[in-house]
Order: sequence, then C-alpha cells, then structure tokens
Amino acid sequence: MNCSSSDSACLRRAQRSDLPEILDLERQSFSQPWTRALFQEELAKLPPTLYVYRSTPAGPLGGYLCFWTVAGELQLINIAVHPEQRGTGLGRRLMEFLLQEARRRQAEKIFLEVRPSNLPALRLYTRMGFQVLYRRPRYYEPEGEDALVMALTVATE
Ligand SMILES: CC(C)(COP(=O)(O)OP(=O)(O)OC[C@H]1O[C@@H](n2cnc3c(N)ncnc32)[C@H](O)[C@@H]1OP(=O)(O)O)[C@@H](O)C(=O)NCCC(=O)NCCS
Repeated sequence: MNCSSSDSACLRRAQRSDLPEILDLERQSFSQPWTRALFQEELAKLPPTLYVYRSTPAGPLGGYLCFWTVAGELQLINIAVHPEQRGTGLGRRLMEFLLQEARRRQAEKIFLEVRPSNLPALRLYTRMGFQVLYRRPRYYEPEGEDALVMALTVATE
C-alpha cells in the first residue's frame, strides 16, 4: 500500500527512515527487543516483511508489524502498537492488514507465538479467530515462559 500525502492514515512498507521510531517502540514493548541489525535485515527482504502505521504520512509511528512468508504460510514475527495508542483498535487494524496480505500472497494459514501471560495480545488474536494449536515449553528466554502456538486458516473471499 502506498502512502500519499492525501491519505488520512497510512500503513505501508517500512523504510530506513522509520528505523529510529521502530527501535524506540520495540524497546518500549519487549523485554528482549530486536536490534537495529535485525530490523535492517528485514528492510532488505522481498517480498516485504516489515510494515509501519502512521495516522498521517508525516505523523508519529503508531505501530508496526513483521511477518514472513514461508512455504505458502505466513508467520507473524512481531506486532507492536505505541503505548499511547493501545486499546483503540490499531492492533486489530494491523492484524486485518496481515489477513489481507495473506490472501494477496495466497497463504492458506497464519501462525504466531504468544506468551500465555500476554492477555491483550491473546485477546486480539482470539478475536481475530486464531486458535491455540499447542504449547512450546520454556520458549521465551531468559525467564523460560512457555509459548502458545496459534494458527488461523485464511478464508478465501
Ligand atoms: C498486543 C497489542 C499489539 C494490541 O494492540 P492494541 O492496539 O492495544 O489492540 P486493539 O486496541 O486493537 O484491541 C484488540 C483487542 O485486545 C483487547 N485489549 C487491548 N488492550 C487490552 C488489555 N490491556 N487487556 C486485555 N485486553 C486488551 C481489546 O479489548 C480488543 O478486544 P475486543 O475486540 O474484544 O475489545 C498491544 O497491546 C502491544 O503493542 N503490546 C506490546 C507488544 C506485544 O505484546 N505484541 C504481541 C507479541 S505476541
């Protein structure tokens, strides 16, 4: 999706100039944040893997999501919404974009991992129709929290 100055909101592929704000949001959102080098790798990938949301093209970063296309499936790698904008429906909007991209890329399933303690994320995924497949013991380092592996079958429109 292109972002033109006439858009009232903007969800588009991330570019190098987005990195400082992505890194800020990453550090505010995760106990084991990704490094600049990891995000730089994502910027270079095709098909694109990293997307950002701004409510206006020049506005502050509202959120980002990162997903990989692997063997006809999408894997959600990360999603974060700016703390001041959480609870306003932006997470859902980013997940709807993920679904739209899954259809566009002809992926039949979307997979993700989530901490059982992350109630906002769990609620978001469940409301989107994701179901828990199984639990991966001691997945998250260093505290050793389990991960729930969730999946959604993408309905064709
Ligand atoms: C998870 C996250 C992306 C959700 O984004 P968001 O913009 O707050 O989500 P939304 O406003 O679209 O809300 C989606 C659902 O989650 C629920 N929700 C939002 N915040 C919540 C909270 N603090 N506690 C419980 N549920 C919550 C909403 O009620 C909504 O459910 P509903 O449709 O039944 O009302 C956001 O909390 C975040 O960035 N967290 C930090 C990073 C993170 O944990 N990412 C996920 C890694 S697996």
